[in-house]
Amino acid sequence: MSGAGVDPAHAIVARRLTRRFGDLVAVDAVDLEVRRGELFGLLGPNGAGKTTLVRMLTGLVPATSGEAWVAGIDVRRDPDGARRVLGVVPQALTSDLDLTGHENLDIYARFFQVGRAERRPRIEELLRRVSLWDRRDDLVKTYSGGMRRRLEIARGLIHAPRVLFLDEPTIGLDPQSRRVIWDLLGELRRGSEITISLTTHYLDEAEALCDRVAIVDHGKVVALGTPQELKASVPGSDTLDLGLAAPPGDGSRAALAALPGVRDLELLPQGVRIRADGGAALLPRVIEALRAASVEVTSASLSRITLEDVFIHFTGRSLREEPAARGPGGPPRRGP
Ligand SMILES: Nc1ncnc2c1ncn2[C@@H]1O[C@H](COP(=O)(O)OP(=O)(O)O)[C@@H](O)[C@H]1O
Ligand SMILES: [Mg+2]
Repeated sequence: MSGAGVDPAHAIVARRLTRRFGDLVAVDAVDLEVRRGELFGLLGPNGAGKTTLVRMLTGLVPATSGEAWVAGIDVRRDPDGARRVLGVVPQALTSDLDLTGHENLDIYARFFQVGRAERRPRIEELLRRVSLWDRRDDLVKTYSGGMRRRLEIARGLIHAPRVLFLDEPTIGLDPQSRRVIWDLLGELRRGSEITISLTTHYLDEAEALCDRVAIVDHGKVVALGTPQELKASVPGSDTLDLGLAAPPGDGSRAALAALPGVRDLELLPQGVRIRADGGAALLPRVIEALRAASVEVTSASLSRITLEDVFIHFTGRSLREEPAARGPGGPPRRGP
């Protein structure tokens, strides 16, 4: 492996990776280690520096300072070597509209020197995998946004890269097309050893797909872990709502407050709201405590913390463009 101390178990490594544009520090001394075979998420709002980070990792933009390795190759010292082992699906759609889907892939296959004999079967396999085989001879300008994105994913895979970078692959797509891409990424992982770096500003996408997520804000990684770890790192963010036949007395309130994990009790007109860590484990104990105090429970609901709450916790603001839509009866979330 080139570079001192790059662990071969890591498919992507960034050390103090930094990019300035004039006075703006778009990416600020980022350290990252993505394991082989991982689907790793870069989650952050527009302007956080995600694309700039990916462009440095893929050798498309020179770093101002710091180091980057992909599949053990030093991206700054050996950009051509790195390009052979990494695939990129850029944020902006770049396939040629005036060529067919097949032609687009063929150009890339030649560019990456995929051998003549290999080219046809490889293109067919990829077009089938992204469900575009039937449309292979149609011009790309007749494709929908989702089809174009799928074609570009196939294009990013044409030279069988070991690491695939996808930058906002579902941006602007309808829910159904997003789903198709999610399924595609799931299949890709099951069928190969590939490492995937996925940039997104969609929380549900990060949660559904990623093994680990780095929350990026103002060019820095402000939190990193599995979605589960990130949620567990925010205290008191599960909410239990209990409907009660009668208001709880002082004794039963004290009993609830004493349960492990309970952070806060709030009386509601027809019950009580509990903020706690580990709400799922707590719920039966809460019901038991109320029963022991002869308080009748008429309803119970548990809202687990979401990545949105985690994001607010670490950045002080919401990632959503619009106010959070809540299910019926769902409690509003408090900031930290
Ligand atoms: N080529 C560039 N020249 C000047 N500023 C840039 C350039 N590319 C990105 N930026 C700025 O860097 C910051 C991070 O941008 P970007 O990496 O595209 O963020 P994201 O992908 O998270 O939306 C933004 O403030 C953006 O305006
Ligand atoms: Mg971007």
